Amino acid sequence: MRDALGCYSTGVILATANDSEGVPVGLTANSFTSVSLDPPLLLFCLAKSPSRLKTFESTDFFAINVLHAGQQQIASHFAKRGAMRFGEGRCERGISGLPIIADSLAVFECARYSRHDAGDHVIFVGLIERARFTENGEPLVYYQGKFRPIEFGKFD
Ligand SMILES: Cc1cc2nc3c(=O)[nH]c(=O)nc-3n(C[C@H](O)[C@H](O)[C@H](O)COP(=O)(O)O)c2cc1C
Repeated sequence: MRDALGCYSTGVILATANDSEGVPVGLTANSFTSVSLDPPLLLFCLAKSPSRLKTFESTDFFAINVLHAGQQQIASHFAKRGAMRFGEGRCERGISGLPIIADSLAVFECARYSRHDAGDHVIFVGLIERARFTENGEPLVYYQGKFRPIEFGKFD
């Protein structure tokens, strides 16, 4: 089943937030989608790992950083077990002091809108308070269990 799900290629995001002590943390994820334009909503799914849940449930705000092909190292770092913390000076601050990676393809700063229990994951829906993006970047793609660069071809 996992291999079948891996046939769906996705982008890669870093979900970021401040933990209960105000320390910036991040988590690599691909379970991201836009949900609604009015109001502007998006979602990502978080595994019910105690450390991850504790962080994202202890705050009303989170950011979604859409990663570009040059950010594979960041994606790998924040996918490691117990590696949610940033090193010194590796993130900037957005509204409400949210940690963000400003040179990402896009950054969405969100207030938590709702939370939904879903099996071994929790779905976090965010209300987008600020969005920024760059037009000329190349996305980091995840396909069949691997990070991939993308080459834009053309259909005939
Ligand atoms: C490409 C990719 C996508 C991922 N997507 C998600 C996701 O959507 N939700 C999630 O909870 N974890 C996801 N993970 C796993 C977490 O990034 C990673 O396992 C976690 O940070 C380890 O934290 P732990 O210390 O709680 O085990 C993904 C990992 C990778 C490499």
